[in-house]
Amino acid sequence: MTEPTIEDYFVENRTFPPPRGFADTALVSDRSLYEEAAADPEAFWARQARELVSWFDDFHTVLEWELPFARWFVGGTLNVSYNCLDRHVEAGRGDKVAFHWEGEPGDTRTLTYAELLDEVCRFANALKGLGLQRGDRVAIYMPMIPELPVAMLACTRIGVAHSVIFGGFSPDSIIDRVNDAEARAVITADGGFRRGAPSLLKPNVDAALPSTPTVEHVVVARRTHSDVDMVEGRDHWYHELIAGAGADCPPERMHAEDLLYLLYTSGTTAKPKGIMHTTGGYLTQVAFTHRYVFDLHPDDDVYWCAADIGWVTGHSYIVYGPLANGATSVIYEGTPDTPGRDRLWDIAERYGVTQLYTAPTAIRTFMKWGHEEPAKHDLSKLRLLGSVGEPINPEAWMWYHTHVGGGRCPIVDTWWQTETGAQMISPLPGVTELKPGSATFPLPGISAEVVDDHGDPIERGGGYLTLTRPWPGMLRGIWGDPERYEATYWSRFPGRYFAGDGCKLDDDGYLWLLGRVDDVMNISGHRISTTEVESALVDHDAVAEAAVVGASDDVTGQAIIGYVILKGRVEASPELVEEIRQHVSVKIGPTARPKRVFVVPDLPKTRSGKIMRRLLRDVAEGRDLGDTTTLADATVVDAIRAGASADAGED
Ligand code: WT7
Repeated sequence: MTEPTIEDYFVENRTFPPPRGFADTALVSDRSLYEEAAADPEAFWARQARELVSWFDDFHTVLEWELPFARWFVGGTLNVSYNCLDRHVEAGRGDKVAFHWEGEPGDTRTLTYAELLDEVCRFANALKGLGLQRGDRVAIYMPMIPELPVAMLACTRIGVAHSVIFGGFSPDSIIDRVNDAEARAVITADGGFRRGAPSLLKPNVDAALPSTPTVEHVVVARRTHSDVDMVEGRDHWYHELIAGAGADCPPERMHAEDLLYLLYTSGTTAKPKGIMHTTGGYLTQVAFTHRYVFDLHPDDDVYWCAADIGWVTGHSYIVYGPLANGATSVIYEGTPDTPGRDRLWDIAERYGVTQLYTAPTAIRTFMKWGHEEPAKHDLSKLRLLGSVGEPINPEAWMWYHTHVGGGRCPIVDTWWQTETGAQMISPLPGVTELKPGSATFPLPGISAEVVDDHGDPIERGGGYLTLTRPWPGMLRGIWGDPERYEATYWSRFPGRYFAGDGCKLDDDGYLWLLGRVDDVMNISGHRISTTEVESALVDHDAVAEAAVVGASDDVTGQAIIGYVILKGRVEASPELVEEIRQHVSVKIGPTARPKRVFVVPDLPKTRSGKIMRRLLRDVAEGRDLGDTTTLADATVVDAIRAGASADAGED
């Protein structure tokens, strides 16, 4: 055989069964869903589709599967905005709060289901008035204001597919995405509030428009009251459009496989891919996972997903999942440190948040800020915590569990992707015994296997995470490029969807995500995942956050270079750095000990919070930096480079 797959070092022995009080009231506290799904996955999903979604016409075929193209719930017709709004109002729940919205400056708006339905219908009629029709695409480039979910839902009501472009992206990103989708309109705002100041959006749209010939109309919501240029005939104020629009707008009967939305993933270098999600399967899986993974009790809970709607997390778990389930949610516009570093905890306390869903990168930032911040607030209403976006290091998990969850909340570490549409690997909180840092097991109805370099399933140790059966929320393709869809996801291991992630299985069959396989390091022939070394670094008391990369090395092929952010008031010193290196040695073994560790003030991250290891590799190897356009704060790399050349101590 050739080289080993990914090696496996980190051992985590702590376990957390579902807390008694939690399991007593949980929607699921036994293995029945797993058993039902294993016995007949298609029948299982058909039942979920009929129970959780309202159909105008029932489907006649659960799944048509011609690898790699899936069609779910064929023959069924439905409307997503009807499922998210009308049916709750018709059932007498119109006065229930859908969203508690809070702006960064502290202004608030409460939207009941009835109010949201009214505004969605008016805006849908306004879009029709601009000539938009079923089958068209519209780009949405907005801050986190209520008009954003309204715009998305209005599109779904009239059969228009949306393409939400994250509000932090540049005019070039708008141009690529609008042109690829041939969007006929852009919905935007004058700006939004971030870090205490207006951050303007309309000027970026203006800069893009000369290069986007398909755009006929621009709708602008007023948020910051900044001066914007409005072009007569092309640009329209949102508030003027809805004031003049009727509130009666019957929902389009869409087919289960009609396009619901496109969402572009940037990848590292290549052209962004327009990930296609369709209607019936997607809504079924987001409703199912939102209900059971978060153990939603819609009458009692105040649920908060603190992501941005511009990412898939926000599409599935701020907008479609919670609204389909009739939940009450919080939406917050701004940054977590404005005006103070306790803003999230302040919001959680004031609204009585019961479930909080956020990302490991945010949790590690909160660790750096110190547990005094959550301790300032009464978080006793919280009963469940969630994590998504990256592997969560066991120490970050423990911190979240202790200092946010008060030791009583299960944590659901949910693995999924833009491409999967919904959560795939995650505990069920009333059932699964948790291990800090493990996403545990595939959800009911999902089948995953870890394979080696040859595509053969392994039962223990590290390899590649693959999905072996189609799932309802799966991407249906890449917009305009079926060959790229097949080549990107279905070619590496024939018959399997390969997600690009490394993963290991432990003796109990738990899955531990190991990060992107492109980041796996090769040290004298040992293939070591960045995740395991980073978890060992974060395990040291002084370290809040860590990133490692393999930089080329004459002797060992690659050498591990670590970058660490220290907690709050810890001072850097050569002794401490040495101690941190040794800590890795003791925790997971000498092969994985970084050759060098640099203390840095910050790490380069994408706008969605993922560490850009490619840039750190460039710094470590002394190369000129590659493309930094998706970097959240471009000055971070300069600071790291300055520091890295100043204290380049080695073995
Ligand atoms: C990639 C997908 C899923 C919505 C947000 C990100 C990583 C995601 C986990 C997790 C370990 C995770 C994977 C995946 N990832 N969740 N719980 N544990 N890794 O969506 O931008 O499409 O990124 O995020 O590497 O492939 P995305």
